[in-house]
Amino acid sequence: MIIREMTSEDIKSVAEIEKLSFTHPWSEENLRDSFNSVCNHFYISQNENKVVGYIGFTVAADEGYILNVAVHPDFQGQGIGKALVEKTVNYAVENSLAFVTLEVRESNSKAIRLYGYFDFEEVGKRKGYYSNPKEDAILMTRYFNSIKE
Ligand SMILES: CC(C)(COP(=O)(O)OP(=O)(O)OC[C@H]1O[C@@H](n2cnc3c(N)ncnc32)[C@H](O)[C@@H]1OP(=O)(O)O)[C@@H](O)C(=O)NCCC(=O)NCCS
Repeated sequence: MIIREMTSEDIKSVAEIEKLSFTHPWSEENLRDSFNSVCNHFYISQNENKVVGYIGFTVAADEGYILNVAVHPDFQGQGIGKALVEKTVNYAVENSLAFVTLEVRESNSKAIRLYGYFDFEEVGKRKGYYSNPKEDAILMTRYFNSIKE
C-alpha cells in the first residue's frame, strides 16, 4: 500500500469514494476547491493503480482539523484508515502542531475506534450537527506537546 500526496488527477476517484461513503458527499467541485486551498493537505492511499482511500485536513497556525477520511468499502478493514490517520499525526508532529481535532457522527463506532487508536479523545459534543439522519457530533482531539499537561 502506498500513501502519497493527492494530485488533481486523483480528485475524480476520491469523489467516487465520497459518494460511496457519505450521505452528503463532497462533489468533485467541492474537492477541487478544497484541494486548491493552501491551508489544506490531502493524502491518498493507492493499491496498484487504484485510489482506495483519502484523508484531508486543514492547518491554521499550529492547529489541525481533519476534514474527512474515507476508505473505499471494498478495501476497508485492511489498515488503510489507520495508515491515513497515522500520516496526519506524523505531519502534526513534524510540523509542531498543538493539536489535531475533528467531528464524527456519534454512531460511527468504526471511525471513533480508529481515532481512539491514535489517542484522539472525546472533548465535547455538537448537538444536532449532522442531518440526514440528524445526529450529534462527537468532537475528538489529539493533543501534542504539553498543552494538556
Ligand atoms: C472509518 C474508516 C475510514 C476506517 O477505515 P479502514 O481502512 O476500514 O480502517 P482500518 O482497517 O485501518 O482499521 C482501523 C481501526 O478502525 C476500527 N475498525 C475498522 N473496521 C472496523 C469494524 N468493522 N468494526 C469496528 N471497528 C472497526 C478498528 O479500531 C480498527 O483497528 P483494529 O483493526 O486494530 O481493531 C472506514 O470505515 C470508512 O471509510 N468509513 C466511511 C467513511 C467514514 O465514516 N469516515 C469517517 C468520517 S469522521
